[in-house]
Amino acid sequence: MTGKLDNKVAIVTGAGSGMGKAIAELFARQGASVVIADINADSLSAVVSEIEAKGGNAFQVVTDMSKETDVISMVKETVDHYNKLDILVNNAGIMDNFKTVGNVSDELWQKVLAINLTGPFIASREAINVMKNQENGGVIVNNASIGGLFGARGGAAYSTAKHGLIGLTKNIGATYGVFGNVRANAIAPGAVATNIGASITEPDELGMKALAAAGEGPTGQPEQIAQLALFLASDESSFVNGEVITADGGWTAR
Ligand SMILES: NC(=O)c1ccc[n+]([C@@H]2O[C@H](COP(=O)([O-])OP(=O)(O)OC[C@H]3O[C@@H](n4cnc5c(N)ncnc54)[C@H](O)[C@@H]3O)[C@@H](O)[C@H]2O)c1
Repeated sequence: MTGKLDNKVAIVTGAGSGMGKAIAELFARQGASVVIADINADSLSAVVSEIEAKGGNAFQVVTDMSKETDVISMVKETVDHYNKLDILVNNAGIMDNFKTVGNVSDELWQKVLAINLTGPFIASREAINVMKNQENGGVIVNNASIGGLFGARGGAAYSTAKHGLIGLTKNIGATYGVFGNVRANAIAPGAVATNIGASITEPDELGMKALAAAGEGPTGQPEQIAQLALFLASDESSFVNGEVITADGGWTAR
């Protein structure tokens, strides 16, 4: 059987849970060798075992996206293991309890920006410096959020980081995509049923009021986002570059 990602090597960050796990599993079913990167070592082993049990190829690298040395090692270990890197999916991310500016501590701000924006930047830099020298270049898919397009779908730090991730995507698309051989696109999911909701333990009152005013959207499944990531990672999207594609079941269409 031929897959849409046969002979490709893909890194998926945050692949121990939710959308990252669904993306890693779908990419493996489509023929990619998948590097499963996550801060949670236990979940990584489980995902690798599941992929291998179904005949797929996976390799795990415990990675904290907020640590530059970890992110650099993640790309280096991938290239050492597979001799190339075709696809980088920057998916790992955390929420911020919808904290509004007046209630964001320096610590929370720096943690959210480090994991959701600086980590993807370092991963992109390291990946691009491998991909640009490859005959077939490479592809970057950034899992942003509708919080990267609108102001009331996360707190101040989350919204800022996700807007930044979309800016990073467009800059890579306009430079390495137009004048080189590395495309970059972003996904902006709406509400998706994953474990991230469990991290909302002390929601900010004003942040929740703003979210409620934005209305409720339907809830999607991680596999629905994985299908979009597959399209963006595969050659089927070869002329799509520097874009942000919303997948929210119509929430923000209203
Ligand atoms: N679920 C939603 O409704 C939703 C909506 C829009 C965007 N997103 C984004 O989708 C992405 C995936 O989130 P999810 O909903 O699947 O969440 P999830 O919590 O189910 O999975 C996130 C994964 O990232 C890992 N992770 C957390 N911190 C990390 C770090 N420092 N380094 C490496 N890995 C780390 C976690 O261990 C976990 O396995 C995130 O970037 C999130 O912001 C989620």
